[in-house]
Amino acid sequence: MSAPPKRSEANSQPELSDVAAASLSQEAIFAEALITSRQNILPKCLSAPGPSATQIEQLFRAAAAAPDHARLRPWRFVLVPEHKRAELAEVFAQALVDRDASATLAQIAAAREKAYRAPLLMLAVACLGPREPDVPMLERMVSLGCAIQNILLSAHSMEFGSGLTSGKAMSSARMRKLFQLQVGEEAVCFINVGSASTRKPANLRPEPTEFVSSL
Ligand SMILES: Cc1cc2nc3c(=O)[nH]c(=O)nc-3n(C[C@H](O)[C@H](O)[C@H](O)COP(=O)(O)O)c2cc1C
Repeated sequence: MSAPPKRSEANSQPELSDVAAASLSQEAIFAEALITSRQNILPKCLSAPGPSATQIEQLFRAAAAAPDHARLRPWRFVLVPEHKRAELAEVFAQALVDRDASATLAQIAAAREKAYRAPLLMLAVACLGPREPDVPMLERMVSLGCAIQNILLSAHSMEFGSGLTSGKAMSSARMRKLFQLQVGEEAVCFINVGSASTRKPANLRPEPTEFVSSL
């Protein structure tokens, strides 16, 4: 994982007369550095310590700042504390056996182990059922994606690593039952946060010319 930028370093401007303009410019530099240096960290590379209770609240305040058409808040997050990891492990294991009755003991153990990796683990849930006004599902998913990204960037700014995990178990009835998902709610992915044990080389990003055109 690339280290997040230091805001204090980005803002150290000696000339008082230039402070206002320079600080705006430095904020932009900080924001760009924060965004571009975030990387998906595999949960097996995330260990203790995880975020404190205060930091976790800050992560959720970041989520709450996501764009949200009609202020539906079409998403929610469910924390999986340590004492509930065994229940999630069983869901991962049983969901695998449901899909593949010939799964080996090693595969089942690996599925189970995924519940125990990151110090902070939460499920991202999309709320797609009937609402007034009926903001389209795609717009609601965009809002959830922004909320997730805000959490990832906030965690990165605190120098934690973070990663998203999903997979076939997400749509299993067992997962729905454990997380008490209501009709219209969907389990989208897990957000894993912790201290990153390894740093990866910087990610290769697509060039804007690859995904931008003009009418
Ligand atoms: C909804 C969603 C689910 C994801 N699920 C997984 C996953 O199950 N396993 C995984 O390794 N990465 C998962 N990712 C992370 C992507 O693999 C990762 O974002 C991508 O490789 C780009 O890398 P970066 O985030 O470091 O830029 C998921 C990303 C999203 C948006």
